[in-house]
Amino acid sequence: MQSKDLLQLAEQFGSPLYVYDAEKIQSQYNRLSKAFSKVNKLRINYAMKALSNVAILQLLKEMGSGLDTVSIQEVLLGLHAGYEPDKIFYTPNGVSLEEIEEVNAMGVQINIDNLSILEQFGTKYPNVPVCIRINPHVMAGGNANISVGHIDSKFGISVHQLPHLVRIVENTKMNIVGIHMHTGSDILDIEVFLYAAEILFDAAKNFKNLEFLDFGSGFKVPYKKDDIETNIEELGKKLSKRFNAFCTEYGKELTLIFEPGKFLVSEAGYFLAKVNVVKQTTSTVFAGIDSGFNHLIRPMFYGSQHHIENISHPKGKERFYSVVGYICETDTFANNRRITEIKEGDILSFRNAGAYCFSMASNYNSRYKPAEVLWMNGKGHLIRAHETFEDILKNQIPLPIAATTV
Ligand SMILES: Cc1ncc(COP(=O)(O)O)c(C=O)c1O
Repeated sequence: MQSKDLLQLAEQFGSPLYVYDAEKIQSQYNRLSKAFSKVNKLRINYAMKALSNVAILQLLKEMGSGLDTVSIQEVLLGLHAGYEPDKIFYTPNGVSLEEIEEVNAMGVQINIDNLSILEQFGTKYPNVPVCIRINPHVMAGGNANISVGHIDSKFGISVHQLPHLVRIVENTKMNIVGIHMHTGSDILDIEVFLYAAEILFDAAKNFKNLEFLDFGSGFKVPYKKDDIETNIEELGKKLSKRFNAFCTEYGKELTLIFEPGKFLVSEAGYFLAKVNVVKQTTSTVFAGIDSGFNHLIRPMFYGSQHHIENISHPKGKERFYSVVGYICETDTFANNRRITEIKEGDILSFRNAGAYCFSMASNYNSRYKPAEVLWMNGKGHLIRAHETFEDILKNQIPLPIAATTV
């Protein structure tokens, strides 16, 4: 999509605004499917935590995607969007047995990531088909907060605990139909995926009734022009070959599953914000926008560098700016960033705003969450209205007047 379209949407729907390009989501989905076309049974489960707007879930459902969920609320949203329960995977971490039981009763595929719950669940429901999340202890990922497969990670059942795991499965006679791993996000090196896959293949040999292997996700996407990214096509070629060979060895055609979030939606998203103030100080020039880390937390949380363009004046002379938000704490989106000269009222466009942006937004400072628009067939469709003061008050219960007087 083009800057002039974004500018027109900011005028039509106001700022700040999230915009998603449907065509980009569809092309990423097709790209991943094509890269693994040599695998007969491939399943892509969209990791909806990345961007959980119901319209986005519907768009991916139309393409044939399943869903990867991490909470019962995500499962409910998926069902609401029209997904059949058997198209939904549930991969929680640290949730109660009760929540797992509730989701299981909905007919959703359960993925268990610790031995305590595995033993309790297996004892109660030996016939339910269960997937197990293995922690392969591979250090991978673009940031400590999104590296989840290492030795100190709280995720998954350690691959070194396989003997105990197998004992639980044998004792409870539970039905293990799949094994899963997810080592982190923003993994560039495909050798990391291939190495971790070997660990999963080895673990798989311990289970006789498998139907699928789930390799999680973690593909790195480019954040600006000429940026590095996971070579999906090469990974597809190498992993498909190895996966098919493993199936022959295992004696059964298994389903290969991926659960991408960022890969499908990151590049499709744009965050548009208006410059409220240009402030020259002794050390820099601040461009202060009508938003903050309440709407886009990734730069403060992960140190993410979102590419920023001044789409109101794209041809101006470049200058160095610190782009900051209006939150009452340090709230920096970019430091010393070259952007074409900014005037108050200009619209800045943040790239890669599809994944973990709106879905991590909050009402901090009692600000409204922005609207969301899906750009499809050359038209902007409002898929979430801008919040109002009623949304801030919703569920708040004021004290009776008498109780507030001392
Ligand atoms: C279990 C699991 N699967 C899939 C994903 C999606 O990862 P990504 O957005 O890097 O594709 C995550 C991300 O946190 C995850 O925890």
